[in-house]
Amino acid sequence: DNFCVIMGGGIGSRFWPFSRKTLPKQFLDFFGTGRSLLQQTFDRFSKVIPTENILVVTNDLYADLVKEQLPELKPEQILLEPTRRNTAPCIAWAAYHIRALNPNANIVVAPSDHLILKESEFLSAIEKGLAFVAKSDKLLTLGIKPNRPETGYGYIQIAEHIDSNFYKVKTFTEKPELELAKVFVESGEFYWNAGLFMWNVNSIIKAGESLLPELATKLAAGKDVYGTPEEKKFIDENFPACPNVSIDFGIMEKADNVYVSLGDFGWSDLGTWGSLYDLSQKDESENVTLKCQSLLYNSKNNIVVLPQNKLAVIDGLEGYLIAESDNVLLICKKDEEHSIRKYVNDAQIKL
Ligand code: GDD
Ligand code: MG
Repeated sequence: DNFCVIMGGGIGSRFWPFSRKTLPKQFLDFFGTGRSLLQQTFDRFSKVIPTENILVVTNDLYADLVKEQLPELKPEQILLEPTRRNTAPCIAWAAYHIRALNPNANIVVAPSDHLILKESEFLSAIEKGLAFVAKSDKLLTLGIKPNRPETGYGYIQIAEHIDSNFYKVKTFTEKPELELAKVFVESGEFYWNAGLFMWNVNSIIKAGESLLPELATKLAAGKDVYGTPEEKKFIDENFPACPNVSIDFGIMEKADNVYVSLGDFGWSDLGTWGSLYDLSQKDESENVTLKCQSLLYNSKNNIVVLPQNKLAVIDGLEGYLIAESDNVLLICKKDEEHSIRKYVNDAQIKL
């Protein structure tokens, strides 16, 4: 059977102050569609994966948010991590859990904070991808043609062509420095890792055992409790001691059985303010205004996101991000967004 694991435990700190620790971006509805990014992810996958095989892995902190936003899920479909350990432990736990339910499951692992504009192309790639990884040890990711040297993504260099859209991966480089990212994009041989993975449950467990043995040993110790009422207690006791590592650094960069499916799915990662700006409709001076109203004079290239009842009156501003949410107002150069992590840290002291 096919399963879907939606990862929804990140805090989305690069979207601060919109995304807060208590309400990360996956629970927000950016464009006023009425469905949060998490709900949109669930809606999308429920078209090809049986609802009862969709799991959400998140943090204890967000248990109520997930239950409220996805009332379709039974309690056992929500895996709650006691601490944040990044995506490798999240994916490993989900794999042990699923293996207890179905020892031959094929799994698609998805982030909860992406936009997919071409849904039918996307879903067809997922269905083909799940068939590609079934009964094999292949680790599959989705690749997107890059259009800028973004340093927040993984870069995939393709090797030989296998079949239709599938290629063997030569190298996988997670979050390269800017200079390297530029070389990658200019070479034309590299694709962005979309952050969506497919594999058979046994393949990912095997990859974890060989590449992240410390993690695998910790979680495999609970093999008799997965799928039973004892599972959460075991996780609460053992998960905090798991290494803090992403699937990209921990497995994808190191494994030699990685494949990629290339396609154009209208994919975008709402990872940063810059990506939201790129995706949004602009006025004739390339300004974006979201949620609020604005009167802009002699201003270009700005993104303004204020609460709904506000009117922003701005004169003579170029290339700025102006975002207000709850008790925080942030004004910074749009291309300074890599400093946001620093702002979040420093702001914690004041708030
Ligand atoms: N359950 C759980 N626990 N989920 C988590 C955790 C965690 O500790 N940390 C992150 N997540 C979730 C996030 O909510 C998000 O949906 C997804 O996992 C990916 O995490 P990000 O933190 O957003 O990763 P990234 O954007 O830096 O990088 C990944 O995605 C890029 C594409 O968007 C990598 O896979 C890159 O290689 C890729 O290019
Ligand atoms: Mg992301």
